[in-house]
Amino acid sequence: MDFTASAAQLLNIKADSLILPTGPQLKDSADALDKSLDGAISSLIKAGDFSGNSGETLVMHIPGASGKRIILLGTEGANSQQQQIKVIDAGAAALLKTPSVKAVWVGEGLADDSEWQAGIVARSIQAASYQYAPAPKGIAKTKAQKLKSVTYWAPTRTDLSAAKKGLAYGSAVGNGMNVARQLGNLPANICTPDYLATQAKALAKGQAKFTTSVLSEADMKKLKMGSLLSVSAGSDVPAKMIVMKYQGTKASVKPIVLVGKAVTFDSGGISLKPGNGMDEMKYDMCGGASVIGVFNALIENQLPINVVGIVPATENMPNGHATKPGDVVTSMSGQTIEVLNTDAEGRLILCDALTYAGRFKPDTVIDIATLTGAVIGALGKVTAGLLANDDELAEQLLSSGTRSGDRAWRLPLFEEYDELLKSNFADIANIGGPQAGTITAACFLARFTKKYKWAHLDVAGTAWVSGAAKGSTGRPVPILMDYLRSKAG
Ligand code: BES
Ligand code: MN
Ligand code: ZN
Repeated sequence: MDFTASAAQLLNIKADSLILPTGPQLKDSADALDKSLDGAISSLIKAGDFSGNSGETLVMHIPGASGKRIILLGTEGANSQQQQIKVIDAGAAALLKTPSVKAVWVGEGLADDSEWQAGIVARSIQAASYQYAPAPKGIAKTKAQKLKSVTYWAPTRTDLSAAKKGLAYGSAVGNGMNVARQLGNLPANICTPDYLATQAKALAKGQAKFTTSVLSEADMKKLKMGSLLSVSAGSDVPAKMIVMKYQGTKASVKPIVLVGKAVTFDSGGISLKPGNGMDEMKYDMCGGASVIGVFNALIENQLPINVVGIVPATENMPNGHATKPGDVVTSMSGQTIEVLNTDAEGRLILCDALTYAGRFKPDTVIDIATLTGAVIGALGKVTAGLLANDDELAEQLLSSGTRSGDRAWRLPLFEEYDELLKSNFADIANIGGPQAGTITAACFLARFTKKYKWAHLDVAGTAWVSGAAKGSTGRPVPILMDYLRSKAG
C-alpha cells in the first residue's frame, strides 16, 4: 500500500474513491465539493439518507463520473481521540468494502492535528487490509488487496510534511499490527517456538540496524534459567529465547527492552485447563508476537532509538517430564519458586527473561503478556492492565495509550499484595490465591525487576477477540510504538 500526501485541488487528484469526513453541516472542503457536484451531498443529508453521526458511512457515486465514489463518513460528536479513531476505523472498513484501487482521504472535518490524524488513517487502512493467510510462509503473509494507494489530502500546504510523517509512521504501525495478528492467528501446531525464532531471524535478514539471535535450551541451562525451563520441561518441542536488537542511534544510548511472553500453546500443564475454549490458548504468545510486530515497525519507520526485544517462547504441556504442583525451581536470579499451579506459567518464563534483560543495561524495560484471566474481569476486552515500579513511566504509557487509542489503565503494586506470594518452601510462590490475580502476577514479576525502571502490560483481554470475529487484534503494538516514538524525541 502506497501512502502520499497532497494539498492539490481535491477533484483534480486522480482516484476512484474519496473519503469525506463530515457532520450534518457541510464545512470547508465538504461544502466546496458539494457545490461543485450541484448539491449531491447536501441533498442526501436533507433527504435523511445520511445523518453525519459519528461513524456512519454512506457510499455515493459521483454523478456523471462512472466508477467514482464519495464515501461520506459521519463525524458528529467525535470529540475525543478515541472517538475519532473509531470514525477513521469505520471509514477504512467502508473503503475496503468497495472495489477501490486508488483513494483520497480528506484530512479535514475530524481532527486538527494532521500528523496524528494521517498516522491513524494509514494505520487503520493497513489494519483493515489484513486477511488471515493460512499458508504460513514468510512473515505476515497477507492476501493482496485491490486497494493500491491512498492520498491523504491536507487542507493547506503547510500541513503536508506533518501528514507525510504521520503516514509513514502509521503505515509502519499498521503493518506491525498485522505481523502480530498473523503470528497470533496461526495455529499452535505451526506457530511453535522454533517458528517464531525463524520469523524473527527472517525479519533481520539484510537489515543493517537489526540482528536476531536465538538461545537454545542448552544455552538457557548454562544461564541457569531454571524457571523458564521448568515450563518447557513438559513439552516435546524445545523452548527458544529470541533476542532481537534494533540499533537506530549511537551504541552509547541505553536501550529500551521489550520482553514478550510467547507461550505458543498454554494447556495449563499438569494443572490442566478445562477443555472449553482451550483452542484460544494458541493466542498465549501474543505478547511475544507484539514485540516482533514492533520490530517490524521499527525497521519500516527507522526510529532513532535503541531497542532490544526478548521473546521467551515455549509450550506449556503436561507430558511425563512436566513440572508438578509443589515442585520448587531456581530462577536465573537465584530466587527459588514454589510452583503451586503450573498454569501460572507466564510469570515463570518472564522472570528469567526479565533477569536476562538486565544484561543490556536498559534505560527502561516493558514486558507484555497475556498473563491473567483476572485482567479480563477487571478491565474487560477494552483496556490493558498496566503495572509499573516507576510513576513517570506509567504516566508516559497511559498517554501513549490515549494517543494511540490502544488504552491501558494502571493497577497498584502495594506491598500488601506481594505478601500473598509467601511460600513455606521457597523464596516465593507462583500464585497468590483467588484475589487480585492481575496484581499478584505483577508483584511476582516485580521481584525480578528491582534494578531498572519497569512496566508490565497485561494484554490477556486486549490481544484477541473471541466469538464470531475470533482473531488477534495486533494490540499492544500501537501503544508500544507511540511510547518508543515519544522516546525518539
Ligand atoms: N495464559 C493464561 C492467562 C489467560 C487466561 C489469558 C484466560 C487469556 C484468557 C495464564 O497463563 C494463566 O493460565 N493464568 C492463570 C493464573 C492462575 C493459575 C493464577 C489464570 O489467569 O487463571
Ligand atoms: Mn497458564
Ligand atoms: Zn499462559
